[in-house]
Amino acid sequence: MRRPFVAGNWKMFKTVAEARVLITELLPGLTDIQGVEIVLCPPFTSILPVAALLEGTAIGVGAQNMHWEASGAYTGEIAPPMLAEFCKYVIIGHSERRAYFGETDGSVNRKVLAAIEHGLVPIMCVGETLDENEAGITSEVVTRQVKEGLEGVEAQSIGSIVIAYEPVWAIGTGRAATADGANAVIAGIIRALLAQMYGDELAGMVRILYGGSVKASNAGEFFRYADIDGALVGGASLQASEFIPIVKAAAS
Ligand code: PGA
Repeated sequence: MRRPFVAGNWKMFKTVAEARVLITELLPGLTDIQGVEIVLCPPFTSILPVAALLEGTAIGVGAQNMHWEASGAYTGEIAPPMLAEFCKYVIIGHSERRAYFGETDGSVNRKVLAAIEHGLVPIMCVGETLDENEAGITSEVVTRQVKEGLEGVEAQSIGSIVIAYEPVWAIGTGRAATADGANAVIAGIIRALLAQMYGDELAGMVRILYGGSVKASNAGEFFRYADIDGALVGGASLQASEFIPIVKAAAS
């Protein structure tokens, strides 16, 4: 049985002061929800204060990106051991990083391997663009992203990895994939590919999330599918009135 997983990706929103307000609004609603792994991914500057506010709760903290090297002359970058002091999770290869910051399947792979090496759980994002979707090559694109992203990941580590399927055309657009369409990719392409790569049992341990315009009003539709293990939530994770019901939907 895979434990449902819901992560909030705050992107480049919330100062420390604003983060404190959001955590204060979220905590009363989130702390008594059982059976869901809940993770908040604030910007780097808020990781420490958010981690402090979440201490003693079961809610985890994640980062939105990192470098793959453990240290070095990389001005402006953050290394895995720096995150590992405060975080258990790290989002890797979000489509905004691929689109605006030159991330490739190769850099995603280095980061996934570095996360594992430093004891962080990578939340590896994959998903096709609108053009790729309309060209009918979703399967090729997602297959390549998963294969290359996981290159060199050993069987003993695969079970703890989280994969987020986020069709780029659904992110921040208000136009979510249909639950049926998301399931077709998650079950039919990603989990099937993991089974080819690692065998059925290990493939059955990997949490695979849907992301892209998940809201309180549509989350339950995705979670009805046994292969959709939760959600990576962007915009709606910035509002307690949206995020709390999404987590509740994952619990039920
Ligand atoms: P969205 O973003 O929920 O705002 O569409 C999802 C994501 O980018 O992870």
